[in-house]
Amino acid sequence: MKNSEPQLYSEMQSLGSKSSNAESGSESSAQLRERLVEITWDTVAAFLPKAGGTVDSVLERKMIAIAQSCLHRPECSLLDVGCGTGSVLKFLDDCEHAAGEYHGIDISGNMIESAKSQHPGVLFEKANFLQLPVGEGCKKYDTILFNGSIQFFVNQQEVIRHAKSLLHPAGRIVITHANGEEFVRQEQAGNRFLVPSLLPSTDFLEEIAIKNGLVVMERDGTDSSLNDPASFYLQVLADSE
Ligand SMILES: C[S@@+](CC[C@H](N)C(=O)[O-])C[C@H]1O[C@@H](n2cnc3c(N)ncnc32)[C@H](O)[C@@H]1O
Repeated sequence: MKNSEPQLYSEMQSLGSKSSNAESGSESSAQLRERLVEITWDTVAAFLPKAGGTVDSVLERKMIAIAQSCLHRPECSLLDVGCGTGSVLKFLDDCEHAAGEYHGIDISGNMIESAKSQHPGVLFEKANFLQLPVGEGCKKYDTILFNGSIQFFVNQQEVIRHAKSLLHPAGRIVITHANGEEFVRQEQAGNRFLVPSLLPSTDFLEEIAIKNGLVVMERDGTDSSLNDPASFYLQVLADSE
């Protein structure tokens, strides 16, 4: 990396030493964390294969389950938060309902460039989710998806509140991770500053849901092999107002 991506390499090194000294909870610590997330995923994107990888049958079933939770009614508009290269897109075609407008956002510019080159003509944008504008005249969605991205936020209550304000009535917030809770636990053990949160517990989601006019939906148990949150996490919050 030092030779192939020298700029990313030197910024990673400098952020690494700053982050070990950052005071948790301070504004500069929050900014530093965001920059570290951005640089980390810029680095990952720089080494991804240009055409996207292959998907085994287990991952395929998980991705179809995620896509189906997103397209809960015909022509759902979908905001994919932390979209990476837009990996969910190809599974939307396998769903009962046709997809509506798709909008992928990611804090990593390299991920967005890679997503655009893999899916020409699809709307991808470099953006920090918490900075998306809300209120009158702002864009709203039928589904807001966090696929493998919610653990990068310090305050998940704030994230869900913000997502709710970007939802159309009867919309859904889909929180998922194809590798499940155990993977994120290990990811966090590797770097607590980069991964400040675990995947939210059902009790936590129930509490936040009530405060925000949402309900935590029962899991569809059709495919019992996908029912263990340790290896596949999928939670859906539906607007109940
Ligand atoms: C594990 S990757 C998941 C990528 C994709 N959803 C997938 O499943 O292939 C997590 C992504 O979340 C993005 N991310 C983290 N924090 C973010 C934020 N505040 N706003 C937007 N994207 C963010 C990262 O840049 C990274 O690309």
